[in-house]
Amino acid sequence: MTMPKAIYPGSFDPITYGHIDIVRRARKLFPKLIIAIVANPNKNALFSVEERERITRDALTEMGIDGVEVTSYAGLLIDCVHKLGASAVVRGLRANSDFDYEFQMALTNRDLDSDIETVLFMTAGKYSFLSSSIVKEVKRFGGNISSFVPDSVDKALSKKFASQ
Ligand code: PNS
Repeated sequence: MTMPKAIYPGSFDPITYGHIDIVRRARKLFPKLIIAIVANPNKNALFSVEERERITRDALTEMGIDGVEVTSYAGLLIDCVHKLGASAVVRGLRANSDFDYEFQMALTNRDLDSDIETVLFMTAGKYSFLSSSIVKEVKRFGGNISSFVPDSVDKALSKKFASQ
């Protein structure tokens, strides 16, 4: 049996320690893990998809995580899963409040292709409140985000807000 390949999709605007925690957990089951960043023009992202790809790669390097590919996709996630030859979708679950959304997404994707499984990993308790939106808000108003994101991400946010 070949080793299953998994896709970890999301906005990653930007990647946080919460995402990195999920990457570390998911890799134990899926050594072949690909982070796929959505290029969705409907979502109001702070960073362009190219910036998010670079920031994500830099953060993984900074955290000493190698062998995780980073790519982007537009359109349906399931099409990206097919294109990359993956058989599973990885998502993180922080709290009960994430469940309805994740359940809806997992069942939609299953309806589109019943062979693709969604696997949810529970985040570490200390990251259960953390989101990219919270990180951006704290940083925008000058707060300390060093316990939320790697240094390289903090720097990318400083640069972005300084340029606005
Ligand atoms: O980090 P996010 O924003 O919660 O990630 C959501 C994401 C990007 C994984 C999801 O919205 C997605 O895959 N969108 C692409 C469109 C799609 O496939 N929709 C149908 C499944 S919900």
